[in-house]
Amino acid sequence: MAEPGGWRPPNELPEVAFSGRSNVGKSSLINRLVRRKALARVSQTPGKTREINFFRVNDAFTLVDLPGYGFARVSKGMRAQWRPLIETYLERSEPLRGVVQLIDSRHPPTKDDFQMLDFLASLGAPTIVALTKMDKLSRREAATRPAELARELGLDEDQLIPFSSVTGEGRDELASAIVSLIEQPAWRDGDA
Ligand code: GTP
Ligand code: MG
Repeated sequence: MAEPGGWRPPNELPEVAFSGRSNVGKSSLINRLVRRKALARVSQTPGKTREINFFRVNDAFTLVDLPGYGFARVSKGMRAQWRPLIETYLERSEPLRGVVQLIDSRHPPTKDDFQMLDFLASLGAPTIVALTKMDKLSRREAATRPAELARELGLDEDQLIPFSSVTGEGRDELASAIVSLIEQPAWRDGDA
């Protein structure tokens, strides 16, 4: 999907979307999750993914790779286009069951991260938070960062899933959490 309200696959299968700032590791996480090297394209240049990509898995569900937000080096005009694309998709996608919000484990959450979490909360969308690039932390940091980030985000530590696309840490836990989302009815059912 390249523009708000543009082409999307038919609403046949439940969807789970992956959201996060540019370069946080969305495409890498999707590849690790489905155990494929290059289903979703991993960008050498941050900010490359400008459209929404839909990946049908086992004819059972669809994983939705959202464009990364908050990349400083793209023009204001480009950023102004992404936001409606992401927001319109999240507001309108009937088969959407929930969102995996990715946060870089190494850094404090950004203003954009907080805005996205607020937006998801305002929609009532079931949300899982994955902490990416855990392999880049020292052993000591890996032990303490999840609790720190939980505090900064105002969440319980058990709502966060530490993850690494390099080592596979968190892959099975995230997969189970996603299966639970998919098995629930869409939270908006009955609204329309
Ligand atoms: P956009 O599509 O630009 O929004 O980026 P993205 O969020 O899809 O990130 P992507 O998966 O393309 O990864 C960005 C960079 O981070 C790449 O160089 C990846 O190899 C690297 N990367 C992603 N996940 C991990 C991880 O768990 N550990 C390490 N060490 N590097 C990672
Ligand atoms: Mg990507």
